[in-house]
Amino acid sequence: MASNYLRKKISRHFTRQDEIVFHNHIPSYETIAEKFRDIDELGIYLHIPFCNQICPYCPYNKEIYNEETCRKYVHAVIKEIDTYAAILVNKPVTSFYIGGGTPTTMLGKGIEEIINHLYKRFNMKCHVHMESHPNHLTYENLNAIEAMGVKYLSMGVEALHDRHLKILERPYTVREVKKSVERAVNRNFTCVNIDCIFDLPGQTASEVEQAGRDMVKMKIHQVAAYPLFRFPYTRFDREHQKNGNALATMLRRRKFLKILEDIFYDYGFERSSVWAFTKKGIDKYCSVTVPLYVGLGASGGSYLKDIFYVNTFSVSEYIKAIKEARSPIALSIDLSEEMQMAGWLYWRIYETKLDKGDFRNRFNTSFDRKYGMQMNLLRLMGFLTNNNGQIILSDKGTYWIHAFEDFFSIDYISKLWGTSKVNPWPERVVL
Ligand SMILES: C[S@@+](CC[C@H](N)C(=O)[O-])C[C@H]1O[C@@H](n2cnc3c(N)ncnc32)[C@H](O)[C@@H]1O
Ligand code: SF4
Repeated sequence: MASNYLRKKISRHFTRQDEIVFHNHIPSYETIAEKFRDIDELGIYLHIPFCNQICPYCPYNKEIYNEETCRKYVHAVIKEIDTYAAILVNKPVTSFYIGGGTPTTMLGKGIEEIINHLYKRFNMKCHVHMESHPNHLTYENLNAIEAMGVKYLSMGVEALHDRHLKILERPYTVREVKKSVERAVNRNFTCVNIDCIFDLPGQTASEVEQAGRDMVKMKIHQVAAYPLFRFPYTRFDREHQKNGNALATMLRRRKFLKILEDIFYDYGFERSSVWAFTKKGIDKYCSVTVPLYVGLGASGGSYLKDIFYVNTFSVSEYIKAIKEARSPIALSIDLSEEMQMAGWLYWRIYETKLDKGDFRNRFNTSFDRKYGMQMNLLRLMGFLTNNNGQIILSDKGTYWIHAFEDFFSIDYISKLWGTSKVNPWPERVVL
């Protein structure tokens, strides 16, 4: 297909690889230890693969919560922490993110034990960022969440019209979710983020505007507003018709995002990433913030400079591997310098700004020499400014450059996650 051909061509241009291939080559304990030797700090990602219900549009790795599996999962994660603790010795952990699935399914069911163990075994220098489900945010559960050291909390609000919540099969009404948000913002979190999805089937511009106005009135610190991404392996993709062709979708999303941007800017929010807007002066809620991180749990991914590897997606296989003292890692990819640079650029674009000095520090070469031509072209198109060693994307640039990146990310995620969900130990995955 023409789009696949184009994807390959562009990917080859940026990575100098004919194909991006994950293999079932499992890095040894010694190899991983070696990677840490010259790392100054790292982030930790912990995956909680349980939910109380499965939403039809969701691409993440999760299964229905089960008490027995959860108990075994706690033991397995604790053992995985011990393996890394021996390697990390005392390296400072400066970013910690708990995602899922739904981390709050495990409140009172072992998540506290995992976090305590982590703080005991690692040199933790940061507070916890955690995802939560609105239905779990009772007064008592919020007490428990605060007691765990969570300072940055995100809630999957998703939509602010009952009709849309029904389409997404979310188990609450607008009235109920607003109450949950109210309970959360009246606590002492540094940042409360709400996730909302727009460009839902049949959604009109005036509904987007109304939802945007409702969001900012809820006194939240941050909004992450994503368009509804369609992943081919989800039930939603099979059951709901698309709202038109690819170009029509991109133009409609741009229009909807512009409506939201205007509302958020009016209410004192500023852009903190492609899809997120944070109240000025508030420290943003985000996933792991440092360039090198270790992922714990089923489907946890680790990025250590020149290698990226990912644990098996299957919860039972993850538990079994750890119990039998085997590695839970299923796939890995060695990253050439060109691939590391392309990855660095991808994430800085996601954050909508980049510092050329950081690039030089990381790769010991000039950013302008590497990407100067492309940046100049984008500057002439009004997509970014390029001053004093900093590149900052304009709102127009943020949208279109990211839409271009999505051309790759949705395809890559679908292939890697789609395969890993059906096969716990794939031999290879070609992106
Ligand atoms: C792990 S969930 C959040 C926590 C919790 N599991 C919940 O659903 O409330 C992460 C977020 O990703 C977003 N998300 C999931 N699937 C999506 C899709 N297909 N398109 C856009 N956003 C999506 C949703 O906003 C969701 O809240
Ligand atoms: S959106 Fe949240 S609750 Fe729904 S399936 Fe995904 S992770 Fe689970």
